[in-house]
Amino acid sequence: MTEEAKDIFSVVMVGHVDHGKSTVIGRMMADAGGLPVGKLEQIRDLCKKTAKPFEYAFLLDALKDERSQGITIDTARCFFKTDLRRYIIIDAPGHIEFLKNMITGAARADSAFVVIDAKEGVKENSKRHGYMVGMMGIRQVSVLVNKMDLIGYDQAAYDALCKEYGDFLEKINISPLSFIPVSGVNGDNIVEPGDNMEWYKGPTALQQLDNFEAVNERVGLPFRMPLQDVYRFTEQDDDRRIFSGTVETGTAKAGDEVLFLPSGKRSRVKTIEAFNVDGKDEISAEESVGVTLDTQIYVKPGELMVKADDPAPCVGKRFRANLFWMGRNPMLKHKRYKLKLGAARTTVELVDVINTIDASELTSVKNKQQVDRHDVAECVFETVKPVAFDLVGSIPFTGRLILVDDYEIAGAGIILENVETDESILQEHVEKRELAWGRSPISQVQRMSAYGHGAKFVVVTGDDSALADETAAKLEKTLFARKFMSYYLPLTNIAKGLDSDIVNEEGLTDEHVRRLGELARIMTDSGQIFITSAASLDDYDIETLKVLNSPNEIIVVAVGDNPFNKIEPDCVLSGLDDVDARADAIVALLKDRNVIIDYQI
Ligand code: GTP
Ligand code: MG
Repeated sequence: MTEEAKDIFSVVMVGHVDHGKSTVIGRMMADAGGLPVGKLEQIRDLCKKTAKPFEYAFLLDALKDERSQGITIDTARCFFKTDLRRYIIIDAPGHIEFLKNMITGAARADSAFVVIDAKEGVKENSKRHGYMVGMMGIRQVSVLVNKMDLIGYDQAAYDALCKEYGDFLEKINISPLSFIPVSGVNGDNIVEPGDNMEWYKGPTALQQLDNFEAVNERVGLPFRMPLQDVYRFTEQDDDRRIFSGTVETGTAKAGDEVLFLPSGKRSRVKTIEAFNVDGKDEISAEESVGVTLDTQIYVKPGELMVKADDPAPCVGKRFRANLFWMGRNPMLKHKRYKLKLGAARTTVELVDVINTIDASELTSVKNKQQVDRHDVAECVFETVKPVAFDLVGSIPFTGRLILVDDYEIAGAGIILENVETDESILQEHVEKRELAWGRSPISQVQRMSAYGHGAKFVVVTGDDSALADETAAKLEKTLFARKFMSYYLPLTNIAKGLDSDIVNEEGLTDEHVRRLGELARIMTDSGQIFITSAASLDDYDIETLKVLNSPNEIIVVAVGDNPFNKIEPDCVLSGLDDVDARADAIVALLKDRNVIIDYQI
């Protein structure tokens, strides 16, 4: 976001379908006098010509692509100005879009108007949206009771509705700043009070807008930047890397020691490379930036960059979250979902449903085994790999998550607790698998003596994928030439060959690593030396492969610099330019580990 954009105050309009969200926005813009000259007449004329009744909501469409007197509108956001400040008003047509935008950061709101149709009254989505506004941490809420003209501006009916909705909000700990009776169509209490509701003495919708308080809490929080991308400058032999993302909270400057999580890699900020800005020395919440570091470290997009001196975020695989489920299919245990958390993308499973609440009725059910559409559920999840996050109570911006089912956003939630446990779904799976495994009558010892060598899973990895592939392929060739049972399968074969349908924009996924691990278990069981190569595996990938290949054994070879943080590779091949030398070094290691017995060569 630009320096300027930070000063814009954002408000979201939520409410049941057709209760008048777009009309209220259109009317507010028209009455506040910010519209381009002749715009309103133009739309009225057009409506006349096409024999359509005029709607203020049309203004939103008509003003798209228009940039005049401070009003612009894109998909569902209107940029709008009062004497006090500038606004983004987010027209949230449905809760799915709204939640998606809120959580992905496309549109984050500081405050909300809940629009309720006075005639139709409080509907399920009036409540659900209220619930979600609270869940997303929006504390400044005002309720617009719209279409007052349809109930003859009746105060008693208005009071009853305010009572009903106010009781609901109270139950979910939201104290609205105001209830305002309005008519979007007639303009009552939108910008001016009008003559129809003299019994109402409170602010108009526009006054309420200016009354919302601007609180910029982000800058004062610990520094958090989800790493979106790592660019490499290959020009002029420049080996610099730029680590880029949008700062969620806090500030950082050149010289600060930073930590990437979950990998745990450390470095120091060397320079700040803001786009189109020269000589910037500090980065701050809501800016999209790049930084260079003063040491060469290997980290993947998806990690969370934090300052080493700041309170650390949580890193873990299990967490308890409050989730709103909007998937077509219910959320089930033991099914895999894709998790989006900050810039991280990983696979997640539902471990436990603690309780579920119907967000409109606020009825709660314990011990439900699944989460149905529109349920709000308190659940425990487990990811395939650890992820870094904050609890929503400490830093809400990095404690929000999205679940994807079948390519669609199906759930959105907030993380309440980091659940520490020794259990893992992967470990449980391997235990079950080993119990069920039908043993062959041929023993490992028999295979070893028939083939003249032991079985092993050799993983060749490193920053440079070509180097890793070449080394692994050469190793297979060397072993094969000696008539050893060896087989080379690069991880990309699983990704691009066997499973091309699950390759997505992120390329290799945890799922590919999982399949490779299962395959390794079979291949090593057959007595072979099973070799794979994969670029940039991290500590957690190796952990996964180790667990899945167990009880059989693994050898980890790093070509180039050691890419790991915690894992000690069995050998690091750096400085060996020659592919034969690298393959021979691995063969020597296999001898050393008695996989290959020397006298048999
Ligand atoms: P969605 O975007 O579809 O969820 O609807 P919305 O909430 O944006 O409602 P919209 O502004 O499109 O209004 C829906 C209908 O209600 C339109 O036909 C409006 O003309 C009508 N309407 C909106 N406000 C008022 C009002 O104050 N009085 C009356 N009588 N009709 C209104
Ligand atoms: Mg609308």
